[in-house]
Amino acid sequence: MVTPSWRDLRPETAVSGEVSGTTRYIDIFQVRQLHTLQRPLTETAYEMAFLISSQVMELYFGLLCHELARARREVVADDVPATLRTLRRSVGHLRALEATWESYADMTPLDWNPIKAKLGKGEASSVHSYMFRHLAFLLGQKSPEMLEPHRSTPLIHQGLHEALSAPSLYDEVLALLQRRGLSLPDSAVHRDFAEPYVARPEVEAAWVRVYHDESFADLRELGEALTQVADRFHRWTDAHLTVTMRTFGAKPGYAHTPAVGWLRDRLEQVVFPELWSARTTM
Ligand code: HEM
Repeated sequence: MVTPSWRDLRPETAVSGEVSGTTRYIDIFQVRQLHTLQRPLTETAYEMAFLISSQVMELYFGLLCHELARARREVVADDVPATLRTLRRSVGHLRALEATWESYADMTPLDWNPIKAKLGKGEASSVHSYMFRHLAFLLGQKSPEMLEPHRSTPLIHQGLHEALSAPSLYDEVLALLQRRGLSLPDSAVHRDFAEPYVARPEVEAAWVRVYHDESFADLRELGEALTQVADRFHRWTDAHLTVTMRTFGAKPGYAHTPAVGWLRDRLEQVVFPELWSARTTM
């Protein structure tokens, strides 16, 4: 008797994608295709959860790129109320993104090792998540060196290069502050956007003024919405580090770098830095 495989225990229709006829629901959400996008390589307990939560995270990276690009346009159009709505939606998406870690919160190295072995040691790394990189660039985390892993995919590399050189959401917010009469040095507003952002005392002072001066109440709300976005993004990054420590320990990661140390360095990179540092003098 052939032992049935434990690899994929979903209903046959999910695995094969075969559905006779269709419904509006199936068509709108592309349900047939969606369920055939998971190809587990092992029979281990956590692989399906790992595959699906990774795909869900990728989709959320895309959704956040969409929303934050919209917020950036709304800032350029001086439409603060619309930006606030978009950022509040984005905070909800970031909460959902963080919750996806729950699917394998208790995974141990013994559960993870066989999955990782099948992914290809040293080859498969999420540094190849180009959608995450677009998101990081939009949030102002500009790191030209993170284009390197995308050299073998020229169109993705080109798209990321353009995103690197474009103003981030925060760059456009600083331009808005300047348009609203706040004193910001030109070097903060007209800079080489491909270069990593450097926090400036003048920008910090501008935020302090925004928070104290009632005539800037709408900008203060904008500052708070941006702080929430940064906070929630940071929590996802922090949870990622914890998952890595639990499942991977201090093994070397992609390109033989010290994985946990590398992720800790990333965690140190504060999103919208002056919105945090300004609180000391408020
Ligand atoms: C057990 C699960 C996971 C472990 C052990 C893990 C581990 C790591 C490690 C060690 C790195 C550093 C680069 C490298 O050496 O590859 C990394 C980077 C990264 N991982 Fe994960 N990861 C896991 C799950 C995920 C998932 C589900 C996602 C989302 C799709 C993800 C997204 C990322 C991203 C975007 C980076 C680059 C981070 C940055 O540039 O700041 N990881 N991960």
